[in-house]
Amino acid sequence: MTLTIVGSQLGDEGKGALVDRWGGDADVVVRYQGGDNAGHTVVEGGTEYKLSLVPSGAVRGTVGILGNGCVVNPKTLFTEIDDLRERGLDPDVRVARRAHVIMPYHRVLDGIEEEVKADDDAGDEVGTTGRGIGPTYEDKAGRRGIRIADLLAPDVLREKLEYAVPQKRALVEDVYGLDLAEDDRAEAFDVDALHEEFTRIGERLADEGMTVNCSDYLNRRSDAGDRILFEGAQGTHIDVDHGNYPFVTSSNPTAGGAAVGSGLGVTTVGDGEVVGIVKAYLSRVGSGPLPTELDGDAEEEALADDIREKGGEFGTVTGRPRRIGWLDLPMLRHAARVSGFTGVAVNHVDVLAGLDELKACTAYELDGDELDTVPTTTERWERCEPVYETLDTWEPFDSAAVAEEGYDALPEAAREYLEFVADEIDTPVYAVGVGPDREETVELTNPFDE
Ligand code: IMP
Repeated sequence: MTLTIVGSQLGDEGKGALVDRWGGDADVVVRYQGGDNAGHTVVEGGTEYKLSLVPSGAVRGTVGILGNGCVVNPKTLFTEIDDLRERGLDPDVRVARRAHVIMPYHRVLDGIEEEVKADDDAGDEVGTTGRGIGPTYEDKAGRRGIRIADLLAPDVLREKLEYAVPQKRALVEDVYGLDLAEDDRAEAFDVDALHEEFTRIGERLADEGMTVNCSDYLNRRSDAGDRILFEGAQGTHIDVDHGNYPFVTSSNPTAGGAAVGSGLGVTTVGDGEVVGIVKAYLSRVGSGPLPTELDGDAEEEALADDIREKGGEFGTVTGRPRRIGWLDLPMLRHAARVSGFTGVAVNHVDVLAGLDELKACTAYELDGDELDTVPTTTERWERCEPVYETLDTWEPFDSAAVAEEGYDALPEAAREYLEFVADEIDTPVYAVGVGPDREETVELTNPFDE
């Protein structure tokens, strides 16, 4: 059986805590898209581990796979593995041979493109994490990418570098006007240096037996009756197809990505559970519209600051403060439809405790029409006016006690809020996050038992 965990909003919904919790019941945990732009914190035995690439289950001894849909920076991967080993763990991480490699020039290009967009004052910079994600997926689609398998074959690697690198040099020099002879980033565009470095990386991957035919491996595990958890990174509204283009990441965090990005068939993935992770309010890192953003006046900004502080809303990867807004149900409806949620987990319910007022957006008004979902273009979404429903607030509660006693121990207004959300998107609540600790979760349904 499979369980696919998907971010319902803009990333940072607290997926890690649920992946971590239900990952304990899985035999294999698979990332199917994205790369080290993701970030999650796992707390095990009182120790905190900050990971961006290693699937979180690997901290607890579950096999972690980076699927073919991922873009892998092997240096980040090795740093995380070495760090875990230094701390006494022995993570078992395998990488799909079909996964694409983030090369040093991809990171440089990611930075340059954002700088150029920021300089032209058009406000079209995406606010990327700078990890080279977009340029790597561009090369994948452009059929000039380097894959993990290529690192295992030095002659093939050289041939591919000799094709791709001169194009990248021309791009930075002729289009962006950089003089690489005078630039400390020149090594990222040097075929010989890259070949040497990445051949060594390939040797380490081979020596440690880390590469895998992902589709073949997962199908065998699935046929043997093993439980497979797909760990989505980022979120629905930054999905390159279904998100708020162009303020998106370059992969498919939505559930369909799990099949494409791993090679396990859609019927197998679709036969399993798909759980959308929802933050009880909204946060966004980077640019793009946010109709319910709390930034209208000083009072709203103070409320946003309060929620930001209480919810620890600062990027795990970049440390940037996140923008804050009220829960947006049109966004959730879109997410539930695109991924076919069988359940949702609503996180950060504790953060909303003690507010003077609580609102949720149930629809948008646009040019005299009422919309129940997100329009297809950023320009139209930006012009949407939220239609709000005001809900009862609840007082702060003892999260540990609630987690222990269960759903009925939640304040009544908090339960009403959760039931309202479930009703609006016609999807049951499987779990409620009431605190940052993995234990601070009220579980109504374990999807692996469904
Ligand atoms: P990229 O994925 O680094 O190319 O960034 C593209 C957009 O996705 C930017 O707005 C990022 O802030 C956003 N993004 C990427 N990864 C995450 C994440 O894990 N959480 C939230 N936002 C993300």
